[in-house]
Amino acid sequence: MDRFVIRGGARLCGTITIKGSKNAALPLMAATLLTDEPVILDDVPDLADIGNMRRLLEELGVRIDGDGRSGPEVAGARLAFQVIDPAQCHARYDIVRTMRASICTLGPMLARRGEARVSLPGGCAIGQRPIDLHLRGLEALGATIELDSGDIVARVPKSGRLRGARIFLGGPFGSTVLGTANVLSAAVLAEGRTVIEAAACEPEIVDLVRLLTAMGARIEGAGSPRITIDGVERLGGAVHAVMPDRIEAGTYMCAAGITNGDLTLRNCPIDAMIAPLDALERIGLIITTDPTAPDPLRAEARVTCSRLLRPVQLTTQPHPGFPTDLQAQFMALLCLAEGNSVITERIYPERFLHVAELTRMGASVIRQGPTAIVSGVRRLVGAPVMASDLRASASLVLAGLAAEGVTEVNRVYHLDRGYEQMERRLQMLGADIAREREPGHAEPEVVVRAGARQRASV
Ligand code: EPU
Repeated sequence: MDRFVIRGGARLCGTITIKGSKNAALPLMAATLLTDEPVILDDVPDLADIGNMRRLLEELGVRIDGDGRSGPEVAGARLAFQVIDPAQCHARYDIVRTMRASICTLGPMLARRGEARVSLPGGCAIGQRPIDLHLRGLEALGATIELDSGDIVARVPKSGRLRGARIFLGGPFGSTVLGTANVLSAAVLAEGRTVIEAAACEPEIVDLVRLLTAMGARIEGAGSPRITIDGVERLGGAVHAVMPDRIEAGTYMCAAGITNGDLTLRNCPIDAMIAPLDALERIGLIITTDPTAPDPLRAEARVTCSRLLRPVQLTTQPHPGFPTDLQAQFMALLCLAEGNSVITERIYPERFLHVAELTRMGASVIRQGPTAIVSGVRRLVGAPVMASDLRASASLVLAGLAAEGVTEVNRVYHLDRGYEQMERRLQMLGADIAREREPGHAEPEVVVRAGARQRASV
């Protein structure tokens, strides 16, 4: 297992190209199951979760061409997908347990192959993550669903095709992102019209609709809570570029803020980041964007900081509200604000595993149920800390960049699921950060050592 060793205090400066979005790419990759024709995806990031989805799709009979590697100045790689063996319908526990997003193969496989068997995802560090809404939506389309040896087994009705329906996808915490992706991806091949009410409005759903439309689907209302789908008999191939990652962009913006840095983000989806940008400005960061940029999903944004960070109140909500996937990173930033901030988590009320670790670094955070009160401190102090999930890990890296002394972030495999080469990208922006093997593991001691401190393009 790897860890990061960070010597805090360096001011991050330079330019970084934001990679394609993990959370957009995963359902897009699953949607390639909907056709026998080739689907080409550009700007796919090189991440552990993408590798897992790739392995899963290959097991499900998809041929994937492209090595997945890309340079630092581009958003990602080109991958070509083509179904060559539609008889393989079982997403096995071995893969599903490594990545919950495997669940988004369920809808496409069911609609195209008439049957799907997907292992039920297990527990998750950020709290309970049921899939009842996914299943309810597919049942409304006429699927029969049963549980067999820990697998969800879904089948189309005897008529051989799913049928359109009006479906309500709201749950106790709002809409469901992957649930919307699943039901949408099944409804495109259903007979007749489907109306999804309380659909997720996340930009990643809009990106999925862009691909499905390019494949021949008929969909209206993406980005709103009501999506209308008129089913078609077949879909064809398409070429599509994955949208840039708004969470990666927000994380690097926090890195600029916490190190009093000056970063320019290329390929930045500012149009999908209204709430985090508003919060950063309230905290005191200065964000300059070009209002005439031809594509506000792929714009350039410069982030600078006037030393003083102000406290704010944040509540995570479904899009366009403040995203839960940036809550931990903003908490790290607010640990150094002058005053008390209040952060309320309305999507995953238990997603606070980073609190105890930040406290080990001198942060002052009190948690009361789904709310954390962060009292700003003058300085954070380096310490060994444990990464517990993807975004919590990112918050510990941010805290380490600003802390006095050395911070060791252990178990960074969580980070590798969602941030491409984070340590190298931070090094090139001037951070002193190294990836090492955790002691007790046989691999060589130091894998990468920090170097460049000059302004660089990452
Ligand atoms: N929920 C239900 N029933 C369901 C599905 C969800 O009650 O059937 C609840 C969840 O427990 C949660 C809320 O609804 O409280 C929202 O969950 P959602 O289904 O929207 O989450 P998801 O689709 O499984 C995606 C992202 C997450 C992100 C959430 C919320 C991917 C691969 N994952 O998960 O990303 O936090 O939406 O925006 O797209 C991450 O990248 O770190 C990450 C966890």
